[in-house]
Amino acid sequence: MAVGHHTEDMSAFPRNSGHKTWGPRLRSTRSARVLLIAICLLAVMVAHWTVPVAWHFWHVVHIILRKLLFVPVVLAAIWFDLRGALYVAGMVTALYLMHVYFQWAGAYGENINQIGEVATVWLTAILAGVLVGREKGVLRKLACTHEGALVALVSALDAREHNTQAHSLRVRAYAVRLGREIRMSEAELAILAQAALLHDVGKIGVRDDILLKPGPLNPEEWQSMREHPSIGRKIIEPCDFLREAARIVYTHHERFDGTGYPQGLGGAAIPLGARVFAVADALDALMSDRPYQAELSFAEAKSRILADSGTAFDPEVVRVFVAIPEEAWNQLRQECEPWSNLTPTPLPGTEPKPVSQS
Ligand SMILES: [Fe+2]
Repeated sequence: MAVGHHTEDMSAFPRNSGHKTWGPRLRSTRSARVLLIAICLLAVMVAHWTVPVAWHFWHVVHIILRKLLFVPVVLAAIWFDLRGALYVAGMVTALYLMHVYFQWAGAYGENINQIGEVATVWLTAILAGVLVGREKGVLRKLACTHEGALVALVSALDAREHNTQAHSLRVRAYAVRLGREIRMSEAELAILAQAALLHDVGKIGVRDDILLKPGPLNPEEWQSMREHPSIGRKIIEPCDFLREAARIVYTHHERFDGTGYPQGLGGAAIPLGARVFAVADALDALMSDRPYQAELSFAEAKSRILADSGTAFDPEVVRVFVAIPEEAWNQLRQECEPWSNLTPTPLPGTEPKPVSQS
């Protein structure tokens, strides 16, 4: 949907509430990881403990199994940083020393070797924990730097066409919420978030007399306006980390029935991110006061979007959209206000910190 002065028309449906937040999913991922580490640790420990050492072959297997105790420690470092790694190293030590006490008591040569092994487990936990923690810190810093660069780009457009930035921040929050609901992966959501923020950055390349024209555009002016997805793609595509987002920026004015621009793509040929974005963008455009349209209520905006299901919008995305209750959208809207002191819903790939507003 167009943002700014020119947008397409949109226009009732049953309401239902299928409100799901993504918090439980994150918590369940965490629980699954804890469970996997625990199963891995216990399986290796039980196998190690029960393999007899009477024959040379089985002693070799016994020692190989002992080395596998490093696996849960490293997994804990990757998923839960230093603290998690130290915690699992403590459990490995407790379980392993019980095995040593009951099966190897008095075998001093073996015991020295076994203590050395425990020391190595702790060393591995510390090294892996510190290195993974440091790497995550660098990645977080990089994500914040990217975020700053993207907001700066949108600010550049905002300097010409006011309210673009606020609109882009809201559309990003809406699009990510919709994307989560249709179970896009975290990587896809991160790309969708970038694209939603930058969708209209190509309007930087549209002349002021067209971009800021209060009245309707003539056909030639429309032609220029319709170049903004291509210009946007050209601006951001050279950035490696924005290459995927550029595809969505390029296709953000395509319509599900194939009557959009610039390529006239239809249905599944339009990237999923662009189909999700279209609904998020329409919601914000309809609920905003524009020169060509008074602000609509959520119910009215929802009716318009539902009426355009299958023409402008992917019916599947619309189906998911209508299942999300109004309060969820209101909450996101408030979080995006510059004066808001609400904790913003975390975006994929970034720290849960307030979105900078300039
Ligand atoms: Fe646009």
